[in-house]
Amino acid sequence: MASPDPQRYHVLTFGCQMNAHDSERITGMLEGRGMVAATDADDADVLVFNTCTIREKPDQKLYDQLKHAKGSKRRRGGAQVIAVGGCLVEAQKDNLLREFPWVDVAFGPGRIHDLGNYLELADGEGAGVGHVPGGGEGFYGIGDERQFASELPTRRDRPHQAWVQISMGCNMKCAYCIVPSVRGREQSRSFPDIVAEVERLAAEGVREVSLLGQNVNSYGNDLPRDGSPRTFAELLRAVDGVDGVDRIRYTSPHPAHMRDDVIAAMAECDAVMPQLHLPLQAGSSRVLKAMRRTYSRERFVGLVEKIRASISDISLSTDIIVGVPGETEAEFLETVEVCREVRFDGAYTFIYSSRTGTEAADMVDSFIPYEEQQRRLAHLIDEVRAIATERHQRFVGTTQPVLVEERSDRKVRQRLHGRTPHNVKVNFEGDAEPGQIVPVDIVHATSESMLGRQLVPAP
Ligand code: SAH
Ligand code: SF4
Ligand code: F3S
Repeated sequence: MASPDPQRYHVLTFGCQMNAHDSERITGMLEGRGMVAATDADDADVLVFNTCTIREKPDQKLYDQLKHAKGSKRRRGGAQVIAVGGCLVEAQKDNLLREFPWVDVAFGPGRIHDLGNYLELADGEGAGVGHVPGGGEGFYGIGDERQFASELPTRRDRPHQAWVQISMGCNMKCAYCIVPSVRGREQSRSFPDIVAEVERLAAEGVREVSLLGQNVNSYGNDLPRDGSPRTFAELLRAVDGVDGVDRIRYTSPHPAHMRDDVIAAMAECDAVMPQLHLPLQAGSSRVLKAMRRTYSRERFVGLVEKIRASISDISLSTDIIVGVPGETEAEFLETVEVCREVRFDGAYTFIYSSRTGTEAADMVDSFIPYEEQQRRLAHLIDEVRAIATERHQRFVGTTQPVLVEERSDRKVRQRLHGRTPHNVKVNFEGDAEPGQIVPVDIVHATSESMLGRQLVPAP
């Protein structure tokens, strides 16, 4: 007798790298249940939205897509499980299932495993997924009910690069940020578990690992002080010691936890790349204080000087928010000044978006008009682009070891792309395979990427 067609899934991901990695775990878990990838959302027996709620825009985008999903579910005669996971679910746990009654299951970012349990139960009742009675079930919580997604199987799209989750949650209280209330307090994953995962990945052929946490460099503060290694610096050194891992990156660190031992580990570990994402958020000390960032403009600039003294030629990228409540024009211009002083290689720039429940959301009297926020953003983007373009010129005329990420077809010489140690994307023609690190001559650079030439044939 022919076995029934396997069930099909589709996962749509919003948000940060942590969420992208969570989606790899969701996918791995679904494939572990014998499911296969659907061609698109409409074709899926199980449709998963892995959501973000950091700003208002992603919320709106999700609601639009959920409305679309209602139609496709109806066209399938109801035979589709609509699952919504991620940070927005935790923020909207009181409303989501009520406002979108065609959603079958909602699960917070710490409850990914419960999606599997839910599908298991639905199958166990003999109905099979796709025939789950309506009503909607929700799995929430930011305390002990959370589990590390890293305990689930995974499905990576990129065979030679991997994310490794080292902690979950965040203990900071940044006034604008919703993350602590949707991901909970910081919990570090066990040190030996992380190293074991990296060893397994290296054995599978992974050459680059990116360590992930909301506040990645405060790793270990909650681990027992029993003499065994537990700090972030020690973790960098341990991962650096894993054979086969050529490149180590991490994101996102908090400037307040960028301690000397971390800087020393970066400087001394060959595999830790000369690149750092160091979120500034704002350039004015008054604004930084209101944001509860715990550092001043002077301390941030001093930290950058210290890092540059230890790791010469390091590339620095950052996150900046413009138009937080009460930000004056002069304070905004301080942000521009700090960008000019530090000379970032790149910056993610955001317009402040009020999130319910955060401290800044109550400062309605000092909200900045949207047009003004947009004007500041445009000004800042011009500045950071010009600086990034100029910064990248230092690579033109040099040869960079590029880790090849993708190759589009099997022709001998063709277009490839990859990344340099400084994490700059390079487009080039060559014969290398994904996963190889090949020398590439850089011939042109913009703020976002570079153009190169692979002169020596790949080994
Ligand atoms: N844990 C990381 C990332 C948090 S979210 C960190 O601390 O760096 C990524 C970025 O989104 C933040 O760095 C911040 O720049 C931005 N962000 C967070 N909340 C925001 C809000 N309410 N409005 C606009 N941007 C925000
Ligand atoms: Fe949000 Fe601040 Fe924590 Fe980053 S450090 S996740 S910005 S609260
Ligand atoms: Fe968004 Fe949650 Fe990441 S709110 S930015 S997906 S931690």
